Amino acid sequence: MALLEVDRVGKRFGGLAALDEVSLKVEQGEIYGLIGPNGAGKTTLFNCMTGLYGVSGGAVRLDGRAVHNRAPHEVVRQGFARTFQNIRLFPNMSALENVMVGRHVRSRAGVLGAVLRGARTRAEEAAIRQRAQELLHFVGLERKGRALAGHLAYGEQRRLEIARALATEPKLLALDEPVAGMNPSERRQMAEFFLKLRDSGVTLLLIEHDVKLVMGVCDRVAVLDYGRKIAEGTPDAVQRDPAVIAAYLGSET
Ligand SMILES: Nc1ncnc2c1ncn2[C@@H]1O[C@H](COP(=O)(O)OP(=O)(O)O)[C@@H](O)[C@H]1O
Ligand SMILES: [Mg+2]
Repeated sequence: MALLEVDRVGKRFGGLAALDEVSLKVEQGEIYGLIGPNGAGKTTLFNCMTGLYGVSGGAVRLDGRAVHNRAPHEVVRQGFARTFQNIRLFPNMSALENVMVGRHVRSRAGVLGAVLRGARTRAEEAAIRQRAQELLHFVGLERKGRALAGHLAYGEQRRLEIARALATEPKLLALDEPVAGMNPSERRQMAEFFLKLRDSGVTLLLIEHDVKLVMGVCDRVAVLDYGRKIAEGTPDAVQRDPAVIAAYLGSET
């Protein structure tokens, strides 16, 4: 069984079919790329998978369990974490605290317990802090734990978001344009980081505009165009696919 199964998912906005019977399967342990011109429906698909949008048809299953039409926090609890195309951190909290917030999804006391800080939760709190520190180290921000998230450089904020998502212990991590706005050297570092993430056991689903990066790190790639999947396969095969070439030549990107 595939880790993630997207089964003929449709999404309509009024008269617009943003997604039209999109199906794909992401296998445990792979890096799966999702590309396509602007407006193709990539972010909409992420939103349908992670509870931000209901679906107009079809189903999404993680490990065989439905995640479509569920509340976002339930999807996270089932092991599906994501980041956003626009960074969503708590800018006035420290980097460490931002990661700890992600971690509380998994704690027994939950977020409320963390706020009330009862005696029972104190040991758990220490464990959460410890794990958050490890995750900051994993994303290369071990020296930035006390810095306010809003004061971090752009690339650091992107990595902090990933650390926060990892704190929820996901089976699958979906990243929406994680290297947007980065320079070539930052992009190369991120590409290496994605491979390290995969090797640590996290399956990755990557929306990315940077086709070169996608082709370099992904095991398989799907291409969306006008809400439809027009190609899927290894990076090499997809790059040579005439339908893909036409979709990219016909767009500004
Ligand atoms: N909340 C929404 N309401 C109406 N239309 C939307 C909404 N979200 C996305 N769309 C439309 O759906 C299409 C796909 O958008 P999106 O998924 O953001 O594309 P991508 O991420 O591939 O660039 C676009 O035409 C966009 O305008
Ligand atoms: Mg998008």
